[in-house]
Amino acid sequence: MTEQKATNITWHKPLVTRDEREQKNRYKGVVIWITGLPSSGKSTLAHEVERLLFERGCNSYVLDGDNIRHGLNKDLGFSPEDRNENIRRIGEVAHLFADAGVIAFTAFISPYREDRDRARTLNEPGRFIEVFCKCSAGECEQRDPKGLWAKARKGELKEFTGVSAPYEDPLKPEIVVETDKYSLAECAEQVMRYLEENGIIPSASKR
Ligand code: ADX
Repeated sequence: MTEQKATNITWHKPLVTRDEREQKNRYKGVVIWITGLPSSGKSTLAHEVERLLFERGCNSYVLDGDNIRHGLNKDLGFSPEDRNENIRRIGEVAHLFADAGVIAFTAFISPYREDRDRARTLNEPGRFIEVFCKCSAGECEQRDPKGLWAKARKGELKEFTGVSAPYEDPLKPEIVVETDKYSLAECAEQVMRYLEENGIIPSASKR
C-alpha cells in the first residue's frame, strides 16, 4: 500500500459530470488493460483498435510501457517493487483518462495479478476491461522484435519476464486474444465486438 503523505487535502467535485460527458460523446470512458508476455502483441493490438475507434469518432489514448518508462516512470526499473509502482501509477493515470471520457488503453506486461487487480478496483464494474494477449512463450521468443528474449537467454538481461522473471496469467480476463492463432485484424475485431456488445461504443449499424 502506498502511504498517503499529504494531509489537509479535500476532494473537489467537478461541475461537469461523467454522465454528461458521455451523453455528449456517445461512448463511454473505460480502461482497456492489455497484459501479456513481452512480444505477445500488446502495443500492436492497442494501436490497431485505437485506429478502428478513431475511424468511428471515439477518442482514445494508448499508454505504452516503453514510452511511459521514458518519462513518467523513468525512475523505475524491473524489480518486483518497481513493477508494482509502475503499474500502480499507470492504473491511476488510466483511471483519470477514463474519467475524462477517453477510452484508455494500457499496454504493459503487468506480470503480477495483484497489481492488475488493484488497478481494476479504481474503476467501477464494467469500466475496466482486462485483455489477455495470449501467446506462447515460444512464439514470443521467435518474434522478439527488440532482441530482448535473445539477450535474456544469453544472461545479458536480468529479470526478464518469461525467462528470469514471472508472468501470472489472468484468471478471469474479460477478453482473451490469441495472438499466435489469429491475425491482428481478427484480434482487433474481437475487442471491437466486445465494446459494442457491452454498450461501450455504439454499434456500427446504429451510426
Ligand atoms: S512491467 O512488467 O512493469 O509491466 P513494462 O510493460 O512497463 O513492464 O515494460 C516492458 C518493456 O520494457 C518491454 O516491452 C521491454 O521492451 C522492456 N524491458 C527492458 N527490460 C525488461 C525486463 N527485464 N523485463 C521485461 N521487459 C523489459
